Amino acid sequence: MKEVQILATGSYVPDRIVTNDELATVIDTNDEWIKTRTGIGERRITTGENTSSIAAKAALKALENSSIKPLDIDLIMVATTTPDCYTPSTACIVQNIIGAANATCFDISAACSGFIYALNIAYQFIKNGTKKNALIIGAETLSKILDWNDRSICVLFGDGAGAAILGCGEEKGLIQIYTGSDGKGANLLKCNAVPIDINNKKLKEKIPQNADNEGYHYLSMEGREIFKFAVKAMGETIKTLLSSSGLTIDDIKYIVPHQANLRIIDYMIKKLKVDKKKFYTNLQYYGNTSAASIPIALDQMNREGLLEKGDKILLVGFGGGLTWGGTIIEWTIDKQISS
Ligand code: UT7
Repeated sequence: MKEVQILATGSYVPDRIVTNDELATVIDTNDEWIKTRTGIGERRITTGENTSSIAAKAALKALENSSIKPLDIDLIMVATTTPDCYTPSTACIVQNIIGAANATCFDISAACSGFIYALNIAYQFIKNGTKKNALIIGAETLSKILDWNDRSICVLFGDGAGAAILGCGEEKGLIQIYTGSDGKGANLLKCNAVPIDINNKKLKEKIPQNADNEGYHYLSMEGREIFKFAVKAMGETIKTLLSSSGLTIDDIKYIVPHQANLRIIDYMIKKLKVDKKKFYTNLQYYGNTSAASIPIALDQMNREGLLEKGDKILLVGFGGGLTWGGTIIEWTIDKQISS
């Protein structure tokens, strides 16, 4: 049976840069706090674009870098916490924008682990022969669910999109995948859906409203609890991937972690006793872009020429749900077609 490979990558971030200093002019924060506690220097914020729009831009860049045509794509998944609509899925909207009329399309809700979950699902579809070419995208417009008056959360996140096209080849591109979830931590990182508001008075009296769902629809996070979870989940995911694939950390050229906080990454560098260059980071420029952070990083590494055929790369994510997961890939792309 053919092996599953990443055939191309693409990404898109909005032009609008919001620096820490700019945020400090509107809320009680400062560059020093944000940089020392998180490593973030600036983030990108959309101005009028929705998630489907930036997702499609990332997808088109991935398509440009491949020999795959939109009509060859038979599966599209968008991993996002910030879809345009409850329905249709963001993936269906992207399908229409890029003209991928032969694709089956749906969204993945797994917060910052969403791209890893999508990789896993695409792998299963391709490996069992049901689909040939999958377009998977992590895309977020988190700026629309942030409370811009809450300094404990709004400084952390940014908008952006990253994409990868998966297909078949001779060499094994996806070596090992691992995912997990723990709903006991569901309240630690959360964004409510629209509260139930039954507009029929008679019915309203009979059906209790969902108190838990009342109020605002902003992202909320128990930062310290998530920090503890993040280092545990990352450590366990890396350990599991290495032991199940029979590889050691020395076999891995790069680790591409979810870009949440430089302190989490520094902790892992110390724990694994590896050179800090092994961990790729770009959160300094984009903040935490949730499901988009890993594919944006992967595309940047690809464009910067950091990845050579045969390199083994470990991607690892964690986030709301709680969810976590990772994958070891072998880079199978000869060279980047365009930048
Ligand atoms: O993508 C999903 C995964 N997410 C994560 O992995 C995030 C994990 N958690 C974290 O990265 C960290 O917990 C945060 C960066 C969110 C927070 O860092 P912290 O060191 O845990 O700070 P804290 O929330 O305990 O707040 C410490 C202090 C507080 O002041 P007091 O009570 O000590 O006087 C906050 O009010 O820092 C204050 N603070 C701020 N000060 C200036 C909180 N936010 C800010 C701010 N600017 N933006």
